[in-house]
Amino acid sequence: MTSTIEVIEAPVYEGDPFAMESLLNPHAADGEVRELGPVVYIKKYDYYAITQFAPMQKALRDFRRIGSSDRPFYEDNPFRPKVLVLEDPPTHTVSKNAVMSVLSGENLAKFEKYFTAEAERLVDELLIDGPVEVDAFRDLAVRYVLKVFPDMLGLPAEGRDLLLKFGEGVFNVFGPPSEFQKQKLALAAEAQQWVEENTYRDRQAEGGVGDQLYKMADEGTLTEENARQILKSIFAAGFDTTTASLASMFRAFADNPDQWELLKTNPELLENAWEEAIRFYPASRYGGRYAKEEVVVGGTRIPEGGKILTMWLGAGRDHRQYENPNEFHIDRDMKKGHLSFGFGIHTCAGNLIARLEARVLLKAILERVDRIELVGEPRQAVAYQAFGHDYVPIQLVPREQKLDLS
Ligand code: HEM
Repeated sequence: MTSTIEVIEAPVYEGDPFAMESLLNPHAADGEVRELGPVVYIKKYDYYAITQFAPMQKALRDFRRIGSSDRPFYEDNPFRPKVLVLEDPPTHTVSKNAVMSVLSGENLAKFEKYFTAEAERLVDELLIDGPVEVDAFRDLAVRYVLKVFPDMLGLPAEGRDLLLKFGEGVFNVFGPPSEFQKQKLALAAEAQQWVEENTYRDRQAEGGVGDQLYKMADEGTLTEENARQILKSIFAAGFDTTTASLASMFRAFADNPDQWELLKTNPELLENAWEEAIRFYPASRYGGRYAKEEVVVGGTRIPEGGKILTMWLGAGRDHRQYENPNEFHIDRDMKKGHLSFGFGIHTCAGNLIARLEARVLLKAILERVDRIELVGEPRQAVAYQAFGHDYVPIQLVPREQKLDLS
């Protein structure tokens, strides 16, 4: 007996995922769309949202039919990196191999000692006079990330804060034209200029990541322009994401003191705790794709040429995948994975560096801090594609004696 699987048309969503109300409450907004179906047609902007965990993972494996070189709201713009996220194989494969060779585990291992020393120095400095009130975004995440990663890239000390502004442009360009978008892009214009200048060959420090990419161009693996665009992609995706995620993780701990206690008694949960934190608060709300031919995702038809948003933020709270998804549990079984770094051939190229930064900073804090207490109202950043916190006021109360987790 043969069974036929019924294919349905996508349910239609009449609301606006980009209205200010949705940007302020993306978990509620994307949760509502997710519960309409695994694929939902967003009428206002004529695209399909893939909303639930399992169908999204399956769709992301299908890169031959669900491509990356087109997407909703696509228009050429200096904030949009031209390589990697917007490429399909075979050009994507060349760029991805190049970026993964400079951000490989082997390359990063050379920097681990330095990243650890800087994390310890920063936390020791903050705790020098005992309990201290800090903004986990500015004083921890930004100070740390803007020190270690640009050092690894070989960037000058001056102008590093512009990397965050550049990211603001990048993570707001991918959405519908609006006054909000116009303002965000205008604020990022100075940063865009800085990034253009600092991605040229003559600006790269000997041995830095940029230098390594340009050397690949000398060997004929890439063109010089490709090397520059890959470097620009690293600048675009490498700062707002990690700073926002780290700040969000501290918020999650401050909101859930029992989870900090759990980590103190079970430090082996440290890496799992970070994975749970980015499931709970992912730095990117969605990605973009298009259907190269008619496809069926989660039993729902997406027509040829249909433009797609993959809604990872909502998928991270899918109750079909996670028990009590709106709760932060550092001992959740994260072997089942999450989609906060994407999935498939476009999986985040910087996931190893993001994981390294998080691991060593969290370890330095766990060794030195007894309690993390919220001392004010955290502020969620408002953006189209990015999600995070840009103000997380906490008090760090030091341990009586430093713990040694090495
Ligand atoms: C917690 C921090 C981070 C998060 C949550 C994050 C998230 C993501 C996601 C969801 C994607 C998939 C995009 C897609 O499939 O459409 C992605 C891709 C990418 N990320 Fe990250 N990212 C982070 C940190 C970084 C860092 C530190 C870098 C650079 C050093 C980076 C560079 C990239 C690049 C180049 C891609 C494109 C990969 C490709 O298309 O093959 N990311 N990231």
